[in-house]
Amino acid sequence: MSQKQRKIGLLTSGGDAPGMNAAIRAIVRAAANHHVSVMGIKRGFEGLLHNEIVELKTGDTAGIIRRGGTILLTARCPGLMETAGQNTAAAILKEADIDTLIVIGGDGTFRGAMSLAERGVNILGIPATIDLDMPCTEYSLGFDTACNTGMDAIGRIMDTSMSHERCSVVEVMGRGAGYLALWCGLTSGAEIVLIPEDIEMDTDAVIKQIKNNRENGKTHNLVVIAEGVGGSNALAREIQRVTGIESRATILGHLQRGGSPTAVDRMHGTVMGYMALESVLANEKNKAVVVKEGRHVLISLDEAIKTKPAFNPSLYEMSKVMSI
Ligand code: F6P
Repeated sequence: MSQKQRKIGLLTSGGDAPGMNAAIRAIVRAAANHHVSVMGIKRGFEGLLHNEIVELKTGDTAGIIRRGGTILLTARCPGLMETAGQNTAAAILKEADIDTLIVIGGDGTFRGAMSLAERGVNILGIPATIDLDMPCTEYSLGFDTACNTGMDAIGRIMDTSMSHERCSVVEVMGRGAGYLALWCGLTSGAEIVLIPEDIEMDTDAVIKQIKNNRENGKTHNLVVIAEGVGGSNALAREIQRVTGIESRATILGHLQRGGSPTAVDRMHGTVMGYMALESVLANEKNKAVVVKEGRHVLISLDEAIKTKPAFNPSLYEMSKVMSI
């Protein structure tokens, strides 16, 4: 088959992330440069199972580089965890003459894609999750925007909280990983950062530190807590009960996942998308575009999903020193 006749599938899956649209745009435009068709699959693997496939033209990507979310829509797809779903998805791609599928998403997306690779579909992955919890890459799309959104929101909360000499407990996203909490905490001057990787840090220790801070003249305390630790409302109530310091909890939730991507996410999305498409046309298969030692490189999909999470405690230790 000549390159011109090739049809490349493209989907976004799992939690959306700012920068996904920049990657979609780059893929469609790089493909147009080679006269190759890109077939957009709506709602991730869920849409694939329902044959929701539409051709993406360059005009469909006009003005999307600045938009958060994903124009292709996204979903979490339990059906792809089953053998039957995996067989159906591979058969639908074959029927649609799509030989290669570019997937944009997190670890779950990459694992779902691997099950299709095992059924003969050529896969190219682009890492995207605001959690930055994919051990195979130093950067995943969305993280920078989510950090900046969190930092901005915390700044607003602190304006009011400092005026009232209160304690602010702010819960940021991140179910299994504390990177967002650490970055939001360090860039906002948090006194305490609570992350799922440290199960030792308990309410008593938090309250003890807040009491010490008050005695040492601090009139405001900021506690940033990762979603994976949870319990921010209960923690604020307990701080107030034991210390007598007025405390308020704010859960940022999905506010942190939306919004126009920063320059960092637009650039990574563009470079990763362009590189993914060029790699497909160079007959690379079952690979992922990741960042290693600050550079965009291709690694095997197998390596991408087998890399084990390794928590680097240095930022966490630094956050404790910065709270002095
Ligand atoms: O995409 C990552 C993430 O935002 C996590 O930080 C969070 O725990 C999860 O997704 C929330 O998922 P959902 O939007 O499906 O509730």
